[in-house]
Amino acid sequence: MRIIKQKTVQFLASTVALLFFISGGCADDRVINMEEFGTMDDGRPVQLFTLKNENRMEVSITNYGGIVTSIKVPDKNGNIDDVVLGFDNLEQYKAGHPYFGTITGRYANRIANGRFELNGEVYQLATNDGENHLHGGIEGFDKKLWDYEINNSENSVILRYLSPDGEEGYPGNLNVKVTYTLTEENELRIDYHATTDKPTVVNLTNHSYFNLSGEPTQVILDHLLTIHADRYTPVNEALIPTGELRHVEGTPFDFRTPEYIGTRIDSIPPGYDHNFVLNNPNQGVRNIATLKHEESGRVMEVYTDLPGVQLYTGNFLDGTIEDRNGHPIPQYAALCLETQLFPDSPNQPHFPPAVLNEGEAYETVTIYRFHTEQ
Ligand code: GLA
Repeated sequence: MRIIKQKTVQFLASTVALLFFISGGCADDRVINMEEFGTMDDGRPVQLFTLKNENRMEVSITNYGGIVTSIKVPDKNGNIDDVVLGFDNLEQYKAGHPYFGTITGRYANRIANGRFELNGEVYQLATNDGENHLHGGIEGFDKKLWDYEINNSENSVILRYLSPDGEEGYPGNLNVKVTYTLTEENELRIDYHATTDKPTVVNLTNHSYFNLSGEPTQVILDHLLTIHADRYTPVNEALIPTGELRHVEGTPFDFRTPEYIGTRIDSIPPGYDHNFVLNNPNQGVRNIATLKHEESGRVMEVYTDLPGVQLYTGNFLDGTIEDRNGHPIPQYAALCLETQLFPDSPNQPHFPPAVLNEGEAYETVTIYRFHTEQ
């Protein structure tokens, strides 16, 4: 009798321990950390979220600008480094920076003269890049405080922002939701969703600057890049597409097989800042680019369902901004692979359309997936 009782107690105890391990134990590692990151000028608190996975990958995101402040991944020897440009405090972001890790919108990239026509009406947007509109205008989504929600079971942070009708000149109230998820496959997955109550234009992206060496003072000219694009969109001096879809064959834009960033960059001063016309636009989410840094062994694969990607090699970085270790960030310190619709689409009828109507949903996904190779 007593023995049976003891066994029952033992059984119950181990069952409880097992249940604790399954539910609490595993979930514990996955609990998203939230800490205060500072305050907006009007006093609203800003948060910093840190997501972790079982492979020691860590991603930090703030609801100020939806900024990815940090992505930590191991190299081939297991050393963990931060592979994006960013800051450890809100003040540096508020002081101004070239879109480090931000969500850019309502329209990422440029709209010529900040003007476009939609259903017979001409809309004049804020101009903040000479005569042109760039990355949503003077106070784009990159400077907004987003509402947040944490989903521990999905390892996701959900950010929401309601962009009012007329903001920066855009028509329609736009309801935007961006979901950042860190998976056990070492993917930072970004799901974008938007709806409007009036026809408008939308193009959202994430503007992370990657340096897979983990050392921003070491330039990215030694990174090997592949982009699955047979064509790119040539631009004028103001970086507005001419409208041509030019074949990459024989140009510095041919990344169909892996090429070092540095091999041909001098032939297109000040560097790459171009949209690539991605192959297989109707295939849904597909691998569109791969970036590799041989010394650290880090590899980043990019997946998206979008038709374009902007390769920007940090041409305008000039040492005036300091990285999180206090070192000046030089030109070519990092590169962006901004998945997107083509720049200036609202004025280029033969580009994939950027119009969103009421009753429709803008829905796209981009995944940055990390691994190492020896
Ligand atoms: C984008 C643009 C660049 C530059 C950077 C931010 O990638 O295409 O021309 O404006 O943002 O500095």
